[in-house]
Amino acid sequence: MAPKKIIIDCDPGIDDALAITLAHGSPDLEIVGITTVGGNVNLAYTTGNALRLREFLGFPGVPVTAGSAGALLRVPVDAADVHGQYGLGEARLPEATLPPRDGHAADFIIETLRAAPGEITLVAIGPLTNVALALLKEPRIAEWAREFAILGGSYTRGNFSPAAEFNIAADPEAAAIAFGAGWTVTMLGLDVSRQALAVGKVVDRMRAMGRLGADLLVPCVEFYGMVTADEGPAIHDACTIAYLIDPSLVTLEPAVVQVETAGRFTSGMTVTDFDLAGRVPNAMVGTSLNVSRFWDLVLSVYEDVARRID
Ligand code: BDR
Ligand code: CA
Repeated sequence: MAPKKIIIDCDPGIDDALAITLAHGSPDLEIVGITTVGGNVNLAYTTGNALRLREFLGFPGVPVTAGSAGALLRVPVDAADVHGQYGLGEARLPEATLPPRDGHAADFIIETLRAAPGEITLVAIGPLTNVALALLKEPRIAEWAREFAILGGSYTRGNFSPAAEFNIAADPEAAAIAFGAGWTVTMLGLDVSRQALAVGKVVDRMRAMGRLGADLLVPCVEFYGMVTADEGPAIHDACTIAYLIDPSLVTLEPAVVQVETAGRFTSGMTVTDFDLAGRVPNAMVGTSLNVSRFWDLVLSVYEDVARRID
């Protein structure tokens, strides 16, 4: 089967970097573009990290296009405390030699989806600002995308606040636009991604992966959280990429999801109603992940990538 074509809208970010590595290494996916947004760290760093990853991993022909520095209406927030000052923890990849593509990420998304209606999946693993700007400028991207899948939200508890997950909380108005666009959002949130823990035996396998392990995976993961035999940081963004490679890894349930934009304590909450009561769902929401098959897939793809770059 021909690989699934994807645009990755991201804010690398440790788990974004691990997600990009997975997408690049999988024979079932073809990255047709990377777009960047300010999120985990500022736009200059997220874009710089995407450019560094492109050269370190070896896909220099894929365009990287920068987008919005911050939320549509709100003061920018970041997660540098979680991802490190520069966004990739202790990993220090060589400076990129190639520049980003000219233009804005939102226009890249519009032009790329317009050129191949029904063929390209849009996957967003950062705040949804670029996606919302693209929808405001060209609402038909909701028809042209083959699928729109995100890492974002939660129907249980948050990580930015008790109620809200970071990618939604960083730009709730943008998320509300994305969930209201008429497409069915594949929402993989913390409910699923918190099951994808890089525990000790996962990191041990990464340690045996040459330059990929030593220069990227291990310094990223060890910065991201304490690793023990049973605990480790959740590799959120890679879950959405893994789902695109093998949808059977995730259980999805239809729901009506609304984004809270006004709440004093709940801003950015994805209010998820599985009780459709006759309404048309606007989302398919991830409720569980097959953890052992997830890591089998992710680690075997990483091992392939490691062999190629050593
Ligand atoms: C999400 O927030 C970011 O910090 C991560 O990169 C991920 O996309 C998890 O809540
Ligand atoms: Ca991210």
